[in-house]
Amino acid sequence: MLGITGGIAAYKAAELARLLVKGGAEVQVVMTAAARQFIAPLTLQAITGRPVRDTLFDPQHEAAMGHIELARWAEAIVVAPATADFMAQAAHGMAPDLLATLCLATEAPLLLAPAMNQAMWRNAATRTNTETLRARGVSLVGPAAGEQACGDIGPGRMIEPAEVLQALSDMLSGDSLAGRRVLLTAGPTREAIDPVRFLGNRSSGKMGFALARALVGQGADVTLVSGPVALETPDRVRRVDVETALQMRSAVFDALPGADIFIACAAVADFRPGQAAASKIKKTQEVMTLTLVRNPDILTEVAASSPRPFCVGFAAETDDVEAYADAKRRSKGIDMIAANRVGESLAFEADDNALLVLWEGGRRELAMQSKSSLATALVALITERFDAQTAT
Ligand code: PMT
Repeated sequence: MLGITGGIAAYKAAELARLLVKGGAEVQVVMTAAARQFIAPLTLQAITGRPVRDTLFDPQHEAAMGHIELARWAEAIVVAPATADFMAQAAHGMAPDLLATLCLATEAPLLLAPAMNQAMWRNAATRTNTETLRARGVSLVGPAAGEQACGDIGPGRMIEPAEVLQALSDMLSGDSLAGRRVLLTAGPTREAIDPVRFLGNRSSGKMGFALARALVGQGADVTLVSGPVALETPDRVRRVDVETALQMRSAVFDALPGADIFIACAAVADFRPGQAAASKIKKTQEVMTLTLVRNPDILTEVAASSPRPFCVGFAAETDDVEAYADAKRRSKGIDMIAANRVGESLAFEADDNALLVLWEGGRRELAMQSKSSLATALVALITERFDAQTAT
């Protein structure tokens, strides 16, 4: 959640929103009434794709996602710019408007990027409020010193959006996988029929890329072998692009030595045309027959290798999800399987997903949520099981 309060630096919030969206975050903007004097809600709506929230008692929004629900939805709240007045409210537990109420009601970590006149920043009241907030675990980033919009020179300028983003990412990251190497596959494969046609599937790569981001956020060294997708490489992730299942298998085995964990999130084609035509196939016949041959099962091969990493597979199932997924876990000889129900706009291409995770003697349901927060939850569970296994 991006909170914007009323200061001239509010214009910088648009760039911050853009960077957050670019980094894969779902962003809900909440503005104070004063912030609307500085930047139009429509600008933020266009960037984030979500209507801005600004009213505590809005029956329409409250019916869709009430303010308490919104406070629970946020994985982190960043208020940029945070005015002296907003900091005073937060320090004193006041809730006069939607943003202040959300900050009071949330259990998510809170990051403030203060922006105000230098005298207001130096004022004893603001100093005390800053200390109170820090003592309660609120993170503050900035302000920077320099020339101010009012003509003064001194501390109080909001720091640049890229630095706020870095502070947010530092605040959210952990080190539960520090020193661990994780190899991950994502996206679809394409199996050529002829030079212009292929057999593919609907995987967008969103789930796998969200996992890569969550893994890096926990300090892992991540190699992501990806089929063709239209997604940006997450920061600090080593990406290897492939097209076919055979290329994916060879990239996986190249990167496998030294991997502690292997996660197979890619939707790999089980079959490929036996022989791709050298020239474009002409439509001279009414019926065309394609002969397909089995592709190797990358996950099964990795699980059978020695030494072998902790292996996590995915299962995309339309029916009898748990039974089929558990059978896959056993037949592939893997440590854990994350099953998702697919079809009817579920899982493939969607922004949200739900998983049923199974391992020997255990199961956990991860409810429908954004792929980003689902990835965070799945990485926590993988780490828990991996640690339990390496401890024995
Ligand atoms: O990419 P998105 O649009 O975000 O969608 C995410 C997803 C639905 C693709 C993802 O959540 C998912 O379910 N991925 C696995 C899809 C799949 O191919 O499932 P499967 O049940 O057919 O395969 C089982 C497991 O074996 C998978 O871990 C798969 O990566 C692996 N496999 C399958 C075939 C093969 N030849 N080699 C493999 O390694």
